Amino acid sequence: MMIDNNPVLEAIFTRRSVRDYLDKPVPRDIIDKVIEAGTWAPSGLNNQPWRFVIVEDKGVKSQIAELTRYKPIIEKAPVIIPVFIDKQSMYSEVKDHQAIGACIENMLLAVHSLGLGAVWLGEILKNADQVRRILELPDSFELMAVVAMGYPKHTKQKSSRKPLDELILKEV
Ligand SMILES: Cc1cc2nc3c(=O)[nH]c(=O)nc-3n(C[C@H](O)[C@H](O)[C@H](O)COP(=O)(O)O)c2cc1C
Repeated sequence: MMIDNNPVLEAIFTRRSVRDYLDKPVPRDIIDKVIEAGTWAPSGLNNQPWRFVIVEDKGVKSQIAELTRYKPIIEKAPVIIPVFIDKQSMYSEVKDHQAIGACIENMLLAVHSLGLGAVWLGEILKNADQVRRILELPDSFELMAVVAMGYPKHTKQKSSRKPLDELILKEV
């Protein structure tokens, strides 16, 4: 077991939400690799309920930005990826939503491992239907999150976690 110098653990522990980006486009092969990493998340029955939209157009991005208090993040990000669930491919409310969460975390880790930064935006879900309409998608698709990504302006982000002894309920 490789507990030190483990690239997966290293990525998990050093990934931070990045909310400020350089004005530099993200190459298409990176965008595709991030989405592909998302699709390699596990899903119940391997039903892969995730669907993605790639938004780089400034006009569309600013319309979407208006729908969240995190407007400046979306405006600064060179690319945002709204992640949808395809309701027609669902089989279990809870399990399909869990799969989408795994997909998004894979995307965030892939972004980080490629030297870029991203943030999972959930506040915008209060206007999920409006985002869907701006993107001209039918209501069989429901917005689960918007992933904003780009090259980080800096890497000074700090975060913290509760200690394990508060989280492990018991050992039997
Ligand atoms: C479901 C979910 C919704 C989130 N929504 C937002 C959001 O709307 N805006 C934002 O700036 N960050 C959002 N975040 C990012 C969290 O604030 C962040 O992950 C948390 O503070 C831990 O920081 P870290 O990601 O740097 O470790 C969201 C994260 C999750 C998992």
